[in-house]
Amino acid sequence: MPSRTAFHGVQSASELVDMSTVQTITQSAVGSAPAKLTVLPSAEDNKTEEREEYRYAHLLPVFPQDEHYRPLTPFDHGDPASRALSHPNPRAFLDNATSVVQLTPHLGEVVTGVNLATLDNEGRDQVALEVAKRGVVAFRDQQDFIDRGPDFYLEWGRYFGRLHIHPTSGHPVNYPELHLVYRDENSTFNFERSNSISSTGWHSDVSYELQPPGLTALFLFSQPSTGGDTSFTSQVAALKKLSPQFVAFLKTLKAVHSGFEQAEYSRSGRRGGVVRREPVKHVHPIVRRHPVTGEEALYVNRQFTRYIVGLKIEESNAILNLLYDHIDRSADVQARVKWEPYTVVLWDNRITAHTAIVDYLDTKQRRHGARITPQAERPIPALEGLDLSE
Ligand SMILES: [Fe+2]
Repeated sequence: MPSRTAFHGVQSASELVDMSTVQTITQSAVGSAPAKLTVLPSAEDNKTEEREEYRYAHLLPVFPQDEHYRPLTPFDHGDPASRALSHPNPRAFLDNATSVVQLTPHLGEVVTGVNLATLDNEGRDQVALEVAKRGVVAFRDQQDFIDRGPDFYLEWGRYFGRLHIHPTSGHPVNYPELHLVYRDENSTFNFERSNSISSTGWHSDVSYELQPPGLTALFLFSQPSTGGDTSFTSQVAALKKLSPQFVAFLKTLKAVHSGFEQAEYSRSGRRGGVVRREPVKHVHPIVRRHPVTGEEALYVNRQFTRYIVGLKIEESNAILNLLYDHIDRSADVQARVKWEPYTVVLWDNRITAHTAIVDYLDTKQRRHGARITPQAERPIPALEGLDLSE
């Protein structure tokens, strides 16, 4: 298998990684056995401040320069959540949970006492439905899941859809399907938002793909003792706050989502400097329908949405900026997830947006995690029959 790499492109905010650091690691880790890395601690280790070999050094990001893939091809996506609909108790996987806390009325749930790694297929189906309904679900105490390693991550993720290989981000050696987030004490804040006032950047992952991700998982191997939370917002609830007349108009609209800028950023030599698949852009409805719950959700984001097809540019900018501003400031439809050690967070990328919160730079502590990114269906327009050509 060729070696590869990855980054949340401009994902920027969602899980930023600093390229200068990553490249340093890459140079020392790729091509031969990884060098022994001496690093600062993970969350629990931070208490001791002892320097030791990093337990997850084998999962540090690399950016091989010789890794290239053909364009993605369409595939049929059958959503596992749909099978749970016919189950007499679609929440049976929570029967042995010790705690199930609803973070907010609109989205978010924190589950304790359920081992994600040992759920059978029926349980996985139910998890997919729960995530589709709650938008984001954090599972605590998942050391079993995390310590099973990358082959398990891939097997687990493939159950939910074809695994996405990110075109520009860092990945562990030989595991291009794992998108890594990484920052440590040697990082410099050199991603594209370095000259922005805020690291906040609401987005839906890789929305420029024809079939963007559905259920998505993120977990951390190492984290700051505090900070580095991730915020989520319900694009379903955000849509419902708009007037019926405006929503009816939005349903007639479609927008172009582009990965070109993300690729260009890498080609400029920043990040890992790799573009392993040529960039694409696709047209998606501004209001999409979830294939299982039928819920309608806004589907635009500053990071990848470029313009509304068929409108004058001033009209397009005005509408998109109105929607972005609405998403940015609607704390009443948002939920913030704190990363306790061994937390696995699952979200439905079709009906939520998220942003990283980069508030821990001064602590010089490491934040290192992996994302499993199964792709789902081509976004279904809420308005039946909407023409999705550009
Ligand atoms: Fe993201």
